[in-house]
Amino acid sequence: SWTSDSFVETSVAEMKEQLGDDKVVLGLSGGVDSSVAAMLIHKAIGKNLYCIFVDNGLLRKNEFEEVLESYKGLGLNVKGVNAKDKFYEALKGLTDPELKRKAIGKTFIEVFDDEAHQIQDVKWLAQGTIYPDIIESVSVKGPSATIKSHHNVGGLPDYMKLKIVEPLKLLFKDGVREVGAAMEMPTAILSRHPFPGPGLGIRILGDITAEKVRILQEVDYFFIQGLKDAGLYDGVWQAGSMLLPVQSVGVMGDERTYESVVALRAVTSVDGMTADWAHLPYEFLADVSNKIINNVKGVNRVVYDISSKPPATIEWE
Ligand code: XMP
Repeated sequence: SWTSDSFVETSVAEMKEQLGDDKVVLGLSGGVDSSVAAMLIHKAIGKNLYCIFVDNGLLRKNEFEEVLESYKGLGLNVKGVNAKDKFYEALKGLTDPELKRKAIGKTFIEVFDDEAHQIQDVKWLAQGTIYPDIIESVSVKGPSATIKSHHNVGGLPDYMKLKIVEPLKLLFKDGVREVGAAMEMPTAILSRHPFPGPGLGIRILGDITAEKVRILQEVDYFFIQGLKDAGLYDGVWQAGSMLLPVQSVGVMGDERTYESVVALRAVTSVDGMTADWAHLPYEFLADVSNKIINNVKGVNRVVYDISSKPPATIEWE
């Protein structure tokens, strides 16, 4: 019968055989799949695994620094690449969700490519593909903008001619988490909510600016940290916040304000294909709403999304 321990043992042995002294490059996203894939391959070939973690400027607040540190703590050979400005430049003026996804995907590939080329004689591209990605039941909206679709074959230009290694391709998400636990990876990584490859880029409705990213990062921080502090995080499948391209009138002290509206979204789900809005306690929502409005400059109204999927999707774009 399948155990995570025997899976680790077998797949590490197989990869030792298969990869020998070859160099392997892998793009880390901060998510569960790429992180567990990296740990497994690291167990097999150590420093010959070159991990690249790109800051696209669309991650959660402090995410890049914190996740990078935790990867280093796990002993991974990882290079953090700050490419924020490149992404903001590529996104400038774009408002259509699919065009934004394409721009983010294309920029990611360019940055990743540049980095991969700096590794002498790299032979393999490792991917955190899991079984649902292969059977195409994974619900991604665009073909090009996701970490997931980058790590599907065809993401990199032909001339790189890398062979592909995908140690998780027969596992479901739960199995991936068990394998990670068997390798004693931190729960902070394993229990993480799914996060879309295009990140906050598809949670800022309309065009993206560094200032809007900053506002949404603050909002999102109060929401996610609040869920964790209230012990609600693990009961929710995914949560996030959307910055709406709408301003509303408010009053602060004795002044009239005219500022942005944000929407909070939290869902319960099994696989993301269908989802119900999470019935979070009113007291919790009231508390988070107050914190956001009192602390995040530029936001004066918070709404909670009570739509189920279908017909609404989880993301707003
Ligand atoms: P929707 O919005 O389609 O989302 O209900 C279902 C799941 O997919 C994630 N999602 C994406 N993930 N690239 C990704 O890597 C994308 O472009 C993308 N769009 C949606 C979403 O966060 C949810 O987990």
